[in-house]
Amino acid sequence: MKESFLENKGVVITGGASGFGRGAAFALAERGAEIVLVDFNKELLDETAEKVREKTGTNVIPILCDVSKSDQVKSMAKKAQKELPNVYILFNNAGIGVAYGKNICRVKEKDWDRIMDINLKGQWLVAKAFWRIMKSQKFEGEDLSGKIINTSSTAGLILDPNLPTYSITKAAINSLTILLAKSLAPNISVNSIAPGFHVTGIYLNDEETMRVTMRYGKIKIPLQRIGTVQDVVDLVIFLSSPSSDYITGSCIPIDGGLFNIGRKHGLKWEDIEY
Ligand SMILES: NC(=O)c1ccc[n+]([C@@H]2O[C@H](COP(=O)([O-])OP(=O)(O)OC[C@H]3O[C@@H](n4cnc5c(N)ncnc54)[C@H](O)[C@@H]3O)[C@@H](O)[C@H]2O)c1
Repeated sequence: MKESFLENKGVVITGGASGFGRGAAFALAERGAEIVLVDFNKELLDETAEKVREKTGTNVIPILCDVSKSDQVKSMAKKAQKELPNVYILFNNAGIGVAYGKNICRVKEKDWDRIMDINLKGQWLVAKAFWRIMKSQKFEGEDLSGKIINTSSTAGLILDPNLPTYSITKAAINSLTILLAKSLAPNISVNSIAPGFHVTGIYLNDEETMRVTMRYGKIKIPLQRIGTVQDVVDLVIFLSSPSSDYITGSCIPIDGGLFNIGRKHGLKWEDIEY
């Protein structure tokens, strides 16, 4: 029996059709939330919404929206506000992981713009569209009126030279998180999560595609297994629950020790014994 700490609460998940967003939709619906799922992949979005509805019996509303387009984000937020009782959790998760070449000097302007628009501007636009709604609501006996969970990456903590533009977007998400947390305290907590290597749509849902990337970057994971969607979903559940109410402005790695045991202390992967 799952604890229903999100009963009578609304959740918005961007990038909700696949990967972490999809996993979080099932998990948060099972904890009582009503869910708005946002994605720009219509087919996958409708399919995920239907499956979550079927499995959990929850109200799940799919909204087609490209998070990099401000007009679409504004109308999505309006619709979400109409459909949900409130917006307590915003899981700002939509993103793309395309490498666009490993030499930052050779990245094409149109590719730079695309990844910046989706991975960075998208999370900013969505937070901007929801903060007023989240700040203006009240929950009896609770200090917080909402929680924002942004999605960074270990590549934003240790810049990955094989993914330079992606790394810059994720490092910027860590800064965005801190500045949002400062602006929105004490009403809304804002944290980010930094996943490591997890098989999702970004790796074409194919473990071997991900392992090729890991071999190329000489990545070794201290806990000696690749990450799962569930690992990340468990952290999202924690950040959505009352157990995390005293945390804001943090970036939490969920990466089997990749960041904290590895590069953070100047250790090369090869120096670590497994
Ligand atoms: N998978 C990993 O190992 C990993 C590691 C670190 C960070 N991340 C981050 O996790 C987040 C979720 O990715 P995932 O791994 O679940 O991949 P995924 O491809 O399975 O899911 C991402 C979802 O976002 C949607 N999306 C992409 N651009 C969009 C846009 N402009 N508007 C609306 N929806 C859009 C996609 O259609 C997809 O459904 C991303 O921000 C990604 O950078 C993933």
